[in-house]
Amino acid sequence: MTQPLVDRFGRVHRDLRISLTDRCSLRCTYCMPAEGVPWLAGSTMLSTDELVRIAGVAVGLGVTEIRLTGGEPLLRPDVVDVVRRMAALTGPGGSPEVSLTTNALRLPALAAPLRDAGLARVNISIDTLDRERFAALTRRDRLHDTLAGIAAADAVGFSPIKLNAVAMRGVNDDEVVDLVRFAVERGYQMRFIEQMPLDAGHTWDRTAMVTQAEILASLRAAFELTEVPGRGSAPAETWYVDGGPATVGVIASVTAPFCGTCDRVRLTADGQLRSCLFARSETDLRTLLREGADDDALAAAFRACLAGKKPGHDIDDPTFLQPDRPMSAIGG
Ligand code: 5AD
Ligand code: SF4
Repeated sequence: MTQPLVDRFGRVHRDLRISLTDRCSLRCTYCMPAEGVPWLAGSTMLSTDELVRIAGVAVGLGVTEIRLTGGEPLLRPDVVDVVRRMAALTGPGGSPEVSLTTNALRLPALAAPLRDAGLARVNISIDTLDRERFAALTRRDRLHDTLAGIAAADAVGFSPIKLNAVAMRGVNDDEVVDLVRFAVERGYQMRFIEQMPLDAGHTWDRTAMVTQAEILASLRAAFELTEVPGRGSAPAETWYVDGGPATVGVIASVTAPFCGTCDRVRLTADGQLRSCLFARSETDLRTLLREGADDDALAAAFRACLAGKKPGHDIDDPTFLQPDRPMSAIGG
C-alpha cells in the first residue's frame, strides 16, 4: 500500500492548497500594493491538465482535501472545469473534498455551476461591512458585490459558509462584534485571522497586529463564548456564541501557531510545491512535469519536499525571514 505523505515530525499531509492564479480583482492593503505585483508569466502557469495531473498524484498519496485559492481563484476562466475534474479524482481515501477561498465577487454568476461541478464549500473574505472602509481597504468600491456573492453562495446551498476577516488595528478592529452579528444572523461562521508577514509591500509590524487575545476580549464584551472541543488539525480555534449553535473562530497563526498539527502542503499557480506558507524553498514540479516525469517521479518529489518541512514558521524568532513571494503568489 502507498505510504501517506508524512514528514520528519510525523505529521500526515492530507490537505493540498492550490493557487489557481496570482491575479486578484481587489488590492487589499495587507496583501498587495495599489499597482499590484509583478504577475507570473503565462508560460509558467500550470495548464488545467497539469494541475489535475499533480492533484491526482497527491490524491493517490492520501490527500483528501483540495482547497483552491489565489490570488482570486474565480478569475481563472475554467475554474468550474478545474473543480469538476479535481472532485472526480480518486485515491486510497476516496474522492477529495474540494473547497474554495474567494473574495466572492464572481459568485453571483458562478455559485450554481460550481456547486453542480462538485464544490463542497466556500470560504469568503470580508474584512468590513462598511462601504467606505471596504473601498479604502481593498482599493475597490465593491462591498456590494461581495455581499451579493455571499448571498449567492447561501442561495445555492453551500454550507457551512465561513467568512474570513484579517483583524487590523485602527482599520476594522472595532467591527469584530458587528461582523459576528452579521454572520450569526445568517447562519454563517465568522473567523478572524491574525495578520501574518506575507504582504508584497513588507509592511507587517508585530506590534500593530491585532492578537487573538484582543479579538476575544472585544467579543466577550458582547457575547458569551464557550470553547468548541475537538479542533484536530484545523487552523481555527472555535467558540460557541451565546451557547450556540452559532460559532466564531480565530486563526491565531502568530500568537498561537498550530504548526504541530499542520497537514497542509501548497502548490503555486506556476507549479512550485511548498511545504509551508513560510517555506524558504520550493520543489519545482512544473519543470519535472514538462520534462516528462511519470507519476512515481512526481510522488517522489512530493515526499522530498515534505522531508524538508520545518517544525514551524518561527515568525516570532528574530531571525525570521519573510518568504520571497507574497501571499497572492503562494496561495492562502
Ligand atoms: N495575513 C493573514 N491573512 C491574510 N490573508 C491574506 N493575506 C493575509 C495576511 N498577510 C487572508 C485573506 C483570506 C485568506 C486566504 O487569507 O484575507 O481570507
Ligand atoms: Fe503549516 Fe507552515 Fe502554516 Fe505552520 S506556518 S501551519 S507549518 S503552513
